Amino acid sequence: MPAMAHFLPLSRVARLVGESRSAIQRRIHDGELTTFDGMVEMGELLRVFPDVRWEDDGEFRRVEEIKAHAFSRRVYERALPAKEVLAERLFEMGREFAAAKTLLLHYDEVLRFLGDKLDDVAEAGAARPAVQQAIIDLKQWLRQALAARPSDTERAQALLAQENVMRILSARVTVNPAGHEFFVEGNDTLLEAALRAGIPLNYGCSNGNCGDCRARLVSGQIRKVHPHDFVLKESEKAEGDFLLCSYTAVSDVVVEAGIAGADDIPLQEIVTRVKAVEILNERIAALHLTAPRSQRLHFLAGQRVTLCVGDLSGEYYVASCPCEDRHIELHIRRDNSPLARHVFEDMAKEDSVRIEGPRGHFVMKLDSRRTVIFIAWEDGFAPIKSLVQHAMSLEIAESMHLYWVAGSAAATGGHYQDNLCRTWADALDEFIYQPLDAAGGAAAVAESILAHHPNLHHADIYAAGPPDFLHVLQTGALARGLSSMGWHGEAR
Ligand code: FES
Repeated sequence: MPAMAHFLPLSRVARLVGESRSAIQRRIHDGELTTFDGMVEMGELLRVFPDVRWEDDGEFRRVEEIKAHAFSRRVYERALPAKEVLAERLFEMGREFAAAKTLLLHYDEVLRFLGDKLDDVAEAGAARPAVQQAIIDLKQWLRQALAARPSDTERAQALLAQENVMRILSARVTVNPAGHEFFVEGNDTLLEAALRAGIPLNYGCSNGNCGDCRARLVSGQIRKVHPHDFVLKESEKAEGDFLLCSYTAVSDVVVEAGIAGADDIPLQEIVTRVKAVEILNERIAALHLTAPRSQRLHFLAGQRVTLCVGDLSGEYYVASCPCEDRHIELHIRRDNSPLARHVFEDMAKEDSVRIEGPRGHFVMKLDSRRTVIFIAWEDGFAPIKSLVQHAMSLEIAESMHLYWVAGSAAATGGHYQDNLCRTWADALDEFIYQPLDAAGGAAAVAESILAHHPNLHHADIYAAGPPDFLHVLQTGALARGLSSMGWHGEAR
């Protein structure tokens, strides 16, 4: 790694150029972008992204908006870290600036000394014209080189300024041993920021009582932002142990923390409020619930819960992403059950409803770096929607394909959130969406999907639908090279 160059981590590069991490990784894989120990040198960044105008980036706009007091108080608090954290980040940056300036002054001295020495050598070698001419040429070159501005100066300055703003507003967190990365912004704790980024760290109460979110600081600086009742021994604190739900990151940090699997999450019982009953068509309603501030639902994308209203109850998949804070979305099919009738006809905003869960193992593999194919049959779209959003927030997949098989809206609810899927496809380069008609039958539909994927060696499939459809799909996918670990089916 060149000693004096300026290097940036990949996650920061992705944010600076406005591309996903997987898109940056693909450029590296294709030999388009060179890295040193997983870092990108600034000159290389300017070379590979000649058209990026750094000053147009969202970070600067955000600062301008903050300066202009355009934000409401709540958004203002979300955007800016606590003043103590800001002060520490600015202090750290000031130290780096002072170190760089001291080094520059030192180089200035060295150059002055070198000039004097060259004069001495020229004087001593006056009798040898060739030596004297060489020294004159060298001094002239030095003068010109020092006077010239390095190429791309303005863009390099804009990039550095942009990166500095980013470092003041957010801190980068690496979670070992899994190696996940996320950014902490505003007043978020490390736990809140991780969940927002779709990283399912272990936790329980989220308010400092249970100790389930205990982690160990490997490097960097953290600061307590919420007191906690859970007691850590002095020896544990000395080892670097702390609670993710009580601390934020001051500088870029590396922590050791556990990732939650489906079996690690305890069954919870939460009383939520109805935020809205969205009747999507005559067959399907989206029920939007808000969990209490003190007890958000801990679940993984693809899991289900039991919805209880008085004596009525039914099991539904959560359609929202765990990264959506307190929002829980369930898709209710209008059938003859009293609960569905109640949701469609009587449920009102602010009603109180109980949910129990989560249950199920239809969850995302976090180490996937491959093509991910999501397949939903009718309202099997609910868990698939949650998984798609989770994959998006994690930025793990190189490319995503979504197939949604449904009949007519009147009979089955149809593709009841078709616009949303089209928006995903418009917004993401590597996202392909294809709605399919269920009328052809399970075998024909499975065959038409698999025809797009003759080689499934490097793919993961997540499919939710009826057992006969899953059976033909799985058989066909395995025949096309899908590994058994790459198949994730949820029969409904
Ligand atoms: S989640 Fe319970 S103490 Fe942090």
